[in-house]
Amino acid sequence: MKIGARPRRPLTAGMRRGTAGTVAVTALVAAVCGTGGPTAAPDPASATTRTVAASRTKAAGAPTVKDAKPVAGAAGERVDCKRAKCVALTFDDGPGRHTDALLRHLAAYRARATFFVVGRNVAANQAIVRRTYAAGHEIGSHTWSHPDLTTLPAAKVRAQFARTDRAIKAAIGVRPKLVRPPYGAFNAAVRKQTRRPLVMWSVDTLDWLHRDSSRVARKTLKSVRPGSVILFHDIHPTTVAAMPKVLKRLSARGYTFVTVSRLYGGRPPKLVYGR
Ligand code: NI
Repeated sequence: MKIGARPRRPLTAGMRRGTAGTVAVTALVAAVCGTGGPTAAPDPASATTRTVAASRTKAAGAPTVKDAKPVAGAAGERVDCKRAKCVALTFDDGPGRHTDALLRHLAAYRARATFFVVGRNVAANQAIVRRTYAAGHEIGSHTWSHPDLTTLPAAKVRAQFARTDRAIKAAIGVRPKLVRPPYGAFNAAVRKQTRRPLVMWSVDTLDWLHRDSSRVARKTLKSVRPGSVILFHDIHPTTVAAMPKVLKRLSARGYTFVTVSRLYGGRPPKLVYGR
């Protein structure tokens, strides 16, 4: 099948689109991309917004979001990326068992990141998503079950988004503002099913393929530019283990780690590729 639009860089194996349906392909997708899920990016805006959203959720009978105490004053919330050297680290396919370790690494460098989560993983790990959001990170939608959206009829694409939106809202009190289609695969039909920005990337670390911390760090450090959107997968322990080095080296080069929304001053374009 044709992909209607592609990331600026050629599709890599990591972005290979499933040929749909077979158990083997499903297993590969699960291994490569986690159980897939949409990424929704709540506005990293204000602590007040989050607190209010949290109370509303609670009032609505959703799981409590009392853990979601916003972190005040982190560098990523104030920076103007038109002037500063910003980079958006993005983590797909979680949450998973290594996400908490990643949160600790990010916190050590006051780094903000964007997590494109898979809806069914969110439903199974609400507390981790709450902790992630409370730490100031952005939560975006990566669909409910990580399908290649270009293979689905419109109604199913919408269902993938809607179900994930509900799971994320139940976890953190707000609906995601950003969407990353699995494999970066979309076409005009998919594009019509949501008005939210579709977030691609400018650096693909191929972390899911190599599962090698040194290699992930090397690729990142070599490819990053101001304004880069870098693709990682926090379901792989090798990726999480690479982050201290990445964060340390990029901090030394003067980078500020921001959410995707912050990178674009709160107004990402309809298609995001980074620089
Ligand atoms: Ni994915």
